[in-house]
Amino acid sequence: MRFKVIDRETMDVSSDYELRFVLNGDISGMPDHSTLALCGFEKGSVCDLPTMKRIYVSITDDKPETLRLAIAKTVKALAGHKIDSIRLPKFSASEPGELEEQLAAIAEGFELSAYSFDKYKSKPSRTTIERVVVSVSGIDLADAEEAILKGRIIAGATNYVRDIVNEIPQEYNSLRMAEDAEDLAGYYGTVTCRCYDKAYLEQEGMNAFLAVNQAGPYEPRLIHLSYVPDGESYGRICFVGKGLTYDTGGLSLKPTSSMYTMKSDKSGAAAALGIIKAAAELELPYQIDSVLGVTENCIGNGAYKPDDVIRSRAGVTIEVTNTDAEGRLVLADCLSWAQDHIKPDLLIDLATLTGACVVGLGDYTSGVIGNNYDLQMEFKTKAQDSGENYTILEFNPHLEKILESKIADVKNSAPGTMGGAITAGLFLDKFIKDEYKDRWLHLDIAGPAYVGSDWGYNPAGASGAGVRGCIYFLMREVEERVAEQ
Ligand code: BES
Ligand code: ZN
Ligand code: ZN
Repeated sequence: MRFKVIDRETMDVSSDYELRFVLNGDISGMPDHSTLALCGFEKGSVCDLPTMKRIYVSITDDKPETLRLAIAKTVKALAGHKIDSIRLPKFSASEPGELEEQLAAIAEGFELSAYSFDKYKSKPSRTTIERVVVSVSGIDLADAEEAILKGRIIAGATNYVRDIVNEIPQEYNSLRMAEDAEDLAGYYGTVTCRCYDKAYLEQEGMNAFLAVNQAGPYEPRLIHLSYVPDGESYGRICFVGKGLTYDTGGLSLKPTSSMYTMKSDKSGAAAALGIIKAAAELELPYQIDSVLGVTENCIGNGAYKPDDVIRSRAGVTIEVTNTDAEGRLVLADCLSWAQDHIKPDLLIDLATLTGACVVGLGDYTSGVIGNNYDLQMEFKTKAQDSGENYTILEFNPHLEKILESKIADVKNSAPGTMGGAITAGLFLDKFIKDEYKDRWLHLDIAGPAYVGSDWGYNPAGASGAGVRGCIYFLMREVEERVAEQ
């Protein structure tokens, strides 16, 4: 998709179609006022008038997320039309920085809504819109173009992640993810990648990660990408991603209906790749590391079993009570590795970790878990500017007791399902060293990472959850640092 920014009325620019936003359904002054009145246009309406080559979409305000969602409605409504280009109404700057945010959101709205995973469809159908024209006033064209580019980069990284998560299990395995990571690093001068094999994991004593891999047809991979900015850096942030290219549940086999969609269990690792891609393209002034723990959770003769006791990399012994609680085993060793080898200022893991998080928060919201409430709050507030939803789930000492094991230091799953998202977080916390307790966040993206039907600008399937939230969090951090200087 191409975007053109101009600083005069869009009327002068030729385009196939025009989009008009209608604030709170107020159609007075609109060119097709009488037709809209005839159609009963009101708050919440979308009215496509093909003969006028115009579409009207009601909005309640002009906040970035409202614009993204209105654009999603537009792209959906125009899905069957053979339109190459569309123009938007004029946007004027009011508060400093507001127009830039709106322009980035417009670009995100179009790029995210236009995405479709159709490589296995004999007859793919997707929007034909290739060109978007936006007119602005009160802003330098160069600044407007930069804002649009920012939005396109963020959406591009999200779509890149969607492609990885949507890719099917017979194609996508640990070795493919390692190739993708190497390719990504090859593309940017500021990004490097190292992929570690099974022998290395054995040498590091990453037995929890290795246990999950035991029955898999592919070797595990520990992938470490590092983005180092060319100029100034405000610090080092490490993302750790759960990369289960498939989760059958292992011997604690998932029932048929829950296994379907488990190709999405690599969403955390995929998001960690997308964050590196966006950070490199945005040239963010932070060193960013992504550590991906990648394997499949399979059944078979060699599979790890409930009742097994594993000595993790950190030395904590784990009684396996459920082989379907595998993500936390992979993450335990990866988090331990990241703390010792990377020593970041901030450690954030992303994982489709629990069904309980989806039960608690619904499909569209991720859980933010950790020991530092201020940090959780800060992340939630900054990340939500992206349009992603985050809710804080707090620890409490009573829940901690249910992970106690009779024969090892800890159980990998609590009996019953109550509080499952928090107990999973409490399990991970056993692998967080004292000096990291306050600098660690766990993001459970199990709900939004993959949803069966489309929502807003997300199509059915992978949404790329985590990328936009983390990138907006980082961008806001940068803005804060710059303002402090
Ligand atoms: N990958 C799943 C969690 C999941 C569920 C992600 C639904 C996306 C949608 C995870 O490995 C898992 O199976 N967790 C178990 C934990 C339980 C055994 C303690 C769960 O949530 O049931
Ligand atoms: Zn599982
Ligand atoms: Zn899983």
